[in-house]
Amino acid sequence: TRPLKVALLGCGVVGSEVARIMTTHADDLAARIGAPVELAGVAVRRPSKVREGIDPALVTTDATALVERGDIDVVIEVIGGIEPARTLITTAFEHGTSVVSANKALLAQDGPALHAAAERHGRDLYYEAAVAGAIPLVRPLRESLAGDKVNRVLGIVNGTTNFILDRMDTSGAGYSEALDEATALGYAEADPTADVEGFDAAAKAAILAGIAFHTRVGIGEVHREGITEVTAADIASARRMGCTVKLLAICERAADGRSVTARVHPAMIPLSHPLASVREAYNAVFVEAEAAGQLMFYGPGAGGSPTASAVLGDLVAVCRNKLGETTGPGESAYTRLPVSPMGEV
Ligand code: NDP
Ligand code: HSE
Repeated sequence: TRPLKVALLGCGVVGSEVARIMTTHADDLAARIGAPVELAGVAVRRPSKVREGIDPALVTTDATALVERGDIDVVIEVIGGIEPARTLITTAFEHGTSVVSANKALLAQDGPALHAAAERHGRDLYYEAAVAGAIPLVRPLRESLAGDKVNRVLGIVNGTTNFILDRMDTSGAGYSEALDEATALGYAEADPTADVEGFDAAAKAAILAGIAFHTRVGIGEVHREGITEVTAADIASARRMGCTVKLLAICERAADGRSVTARVHPAMIPLSHPLASVREAYNAVFVEAEAAGQLMFYGPGAGGSPTASAVLGDLVAVCRNKLGETTGPGESAYTRLPVSPMGEV
């Protein structure tokens, strides 16, 4: 069988781990897919940077030319941000190429248009890594729970802020020191404002609410409050009350089913609650569904290796679809439900 060719757009925290695992697990991936996968090109911004394990001949700064090459089977987009990621993904679909992306900012903003482009060209758009790192959440909501009725999705979906709040609470670290550590560990976004101001969690909430409630929620419709106003004194006073502070994302369907609400804000959590014991950059998400009851998803929510695990799971799925001449689930049929301001549901 001919190898399936993969174009990797971005080779930073996530992309470098994707490339490493593609190389070290090549035989396993080939066995699971039914054909070998080959790294056909790696697009970056700084070509001269030394990248361990990457053949320099594969490295290019011309991501567009790589996507337009004509022999690429799957594009993995791990550049981040809106442009050039959006144009590159759209170009991939136009060239008959399926896409795996970890880009929550882009999916929250333009998910419906990207899904439509994928469907128009009969291709896949998979993005398990965009929400909660390694934790399978997108696929369970899109597929496993598709026959149930999800009423609530609630939890910790940003590793960086959880890391900062945890360090401030348990080791008395300062906010800036903890943020620097989260950045050094590869958890924070290229611009960590997205994490600490709650934009990253809001993007994830918009994606989750859209999938869970079969509707569309714009990122601007998510009520958002980050952790920049949370002080050491707030955390100490929460402790005295037997609580800890966590940044929560809460997506709910109204009791009458006619609207949804999505919000992100810091909250006091009793120490006896399972969310209180979510440490470092771990995430945990509760999903409440009518027939299933309450499910809890828990695991590493950020970082190169956990995120690469989710990207590679999507790569396997997309490659299998390609070989089977099929596509996975697109954007599920949706009803446009109004998004209520916080507190009205
Ligand atoms: P990084 O900043 O570490 O890496 C970004 C990569 O994109 C770098 O290799 C950079 O090149 C390359 N790049 C930037 N601009 C361009 C361009 N115009 N053309 C080609 N390449 C470009 O980001 P991460 O790996 O942390 O994140 C990537 C994506 O994954 C983002 O969407 C992020 O939100 C998402 N994500 C990240 C997680 C994490 O824990 N880090 C977890 C889940 C999702 P160069 O190396 O030369 O600078
Ligand atoms: N910056 C993000 C976080 C990466 O800290 O959760 C994972 O999406």
